[in-house]
Amino acid sequence: MTHISTRSLPKAELHLHIEGTLEPEMVFALAEKNGIALPWSSVEELRGLYSFTDLQSFLDLYYAGMAVLQTEDDFAELAGAYLRRAAEQGVRHAELFFDPQAHTTRGIAIDTVIDGLLRALATARSENGITGGLILCFLRDQPVADAMATLESVAARSADLLGVGLDSAEVGYPPSLFEAVFSRARELGLHVVAHAGEEGPPEYVWEALDLLKVERIDHGVRSLEDPLLVERLRRDRIPLTVCPLSNVRLGGVASLDDHALPAMLEAGLVVTVNSDDPAYFGGYIDDNYSAVARALDLDAEQLRAVAAFSVEASFLGADAKATLL
Ligand code: ADE
Ligand code: ZN
Repeated sequence: MTHISTRSLPKAELHLHIEGTLEPEMVFALAEKNGIALPWSSVEELRGLYSFTDLQSFLDLYYAGMAVLQTEDDFAELAGAYLRRAAEQGVRHAELFFDPQAHTTRGIAIDTVIDGLLRALATARSENGITGGLILCFLRDQPVADAMATLESVAARSADLLGVGLDSAEVGYPPSLFEAVFSRARELGLHVVAHAGEEGPPEYVWEALDLLKVERIDHGVRSLEDPLLVERLRRDRIPLTVCPLSNVRLGGVASLDDHALPAMLEAGLVVTVNSDDPAYFGGYIDDNYSAVARALDLDAEQLRAVAAFSVEASFLGADAKATLL
């Protein structure tokens, strides 16, 4: 039985899609403000659709919902609401994923997206002392040339970004496709991460490490199927940004009691707990911490270790890390 409150543990959120924080109430409010017709008649009807069979069934709704995001203010409002909730749940540093191609293909300028998100980060820093940054994710189920064009479109303002990532439908879209894109991102001085081993096989995790040269693996839960890969992750202290409620909601794990998080810790891996798309998966970061603490009977030492790993695995500088540990 665990008795510690995980809420007050200083933690970093490293796997959070800002578009996945779009709550149904905000979908309807922004639709009304922006004069956008929605295919759902109420908040309740939309929320009632949040029962997913796999990653794609979620992504279909995720991309449909974000059509309401139109202006710089909309992106600032979205991220502002998330950062306030995150601060309440003990987040001291947040590295936010965003999916620019899901907006530019709707005619929204990438600078509108980035400027809105950066404004919310600056406000959160002054109001709550929370630090953070942006990780631009490429949609792996879209052409590689679109990813490269997206990267080149922000090359002149790469200092406004922390790094790049790789997300969307995984199976059939191996990391190897994006080797040149990630090479260019590294040349621009950006950090690199990638979703791998969420639904895809351990081979995709190897490719992310060896070809994309990523510094963290997002999800990575299927790595446990390959003992040599586990050894590589352990030896190189490659952090895994695990999202337990997401894994259950998308069917990767049958129930929280079956989650491999304890086995990952036992194997000596640098495991962090994150919320992925909290508006869709039933909980923000501390909801994930408290759910795994309860379901997996994690003790205080394990929970403190996970929170400390999140700080260690962040892209903060050494001095900033030290103040959070
Ligand atoms: N985009 C938003 N959430 C995602 C997830 N869990 N996996 C892949 N792409 C995503
Ligand atoms: Zn994700």
